[in-house]
Amino acid sequence: MSITSCGNSLNIARSLAKKLKTPFSPLTISSFPDGDRYLKFNTPLKGKTLVIVHSFQPNPHQSLLDVIFAAKTAKDLGAKKVILIAPYLAYMRQDIRFHSGEAISSRVMADLLNRSIDRIITIDTHLHRYHSLKVIFTIPAQNLTANSLIASYIQNHVKNPVIIGPDGESYQWADTIAKQINALVTVFKKTRFTSRNVKVKMIKPVSLRNKNVVIVDDIISTGHTVAEAAKKAKALGAKSITAICVHGLFVEDAIQKLKKAGVNKIISTNTIEHPTNKIDVTPLLADEDIG
Ligand code: R5P
Repeated sequence: MSITSCGNSLNIARSLAKKLKTPFSPLTISSFPDGDRYLKFNTPLKGKTLVIVHSFQPNPHQSLLDVIFAAKTAKDLGAKKVILIAPYLAYMRQDIRFHSGEAISSRVMADLLNRSIDRIITIDTHLHRYHSLKVIFTIPAQNLTANSLIASYIQNHVKNPVIIGPDGESYQWADTIAKQINALVTVFKKTRFTSRNVKVKMIKPVSLRNKNVVIVDDIISTGHTVAEAAKKAKALGAKSITAICVHGLFVEDAIQKLKKAGVNKIISTNTIEHPTNKIDVTPLLADEDIG
């Protein structure tokens, strides 16, 4: 087996290789002056299983193409099997045609990967209208969860927390995490008007007065969802607010927005590399039967 990466998730790729006692050989990858991609493997692949560890952020579309180029080249060079570990998988939120004429991007992305790789492993991917990855992937596809890692982080860092899911979808994570650490949990109802305009309200009343609130979501992108939840928690008397996400995309001015909304601490897992990474997902991957 050999582990590589197209450039994102280098930290996870390196530490996974170390844990699995497998060689890590990053690809040489660059762009020609006209933008065409150049890609080169630096290790023999004949007869081997190749594991590509590559998050689809930053640069989601470049990531998709780089992974496809790498997988097809690996097969061309004799690799027996190509496994993609995508700690963050992009395009999953466009899972229906919200307006006529739109691309259902998650299906297109999955279709391209189905033709290029033999197996995919991802973490807390956005399964909202799809109940499973099997709806879009024909290859073996696994969705791991960072819930237990997040629960341990909260247990070790926040005293008497109240867990909040900022919208209906996030309640599944918030509730599981709260149960693991015996904490109170509540959920907000989110109405999304546009990608930059959301409103939330509490639908399961729990007192937040003088409480250490932890808002848990799968993704923080523009930060609007968590910022609105934080403002609401603050208005309801919360003493401190910690925001924890699996995938910290933090686009635009998300971090400033969260701080302005009263979030005291922002924490993410390392599925996307960012200074807020405090929770390492490598142990989840190392526990899998890869190969
Ligand atoms: C949405 O369904 C997700 O679970 C997140 O709540 C959402 O992607 C966060 O986006 P933003 O940070 O832009 O509000």
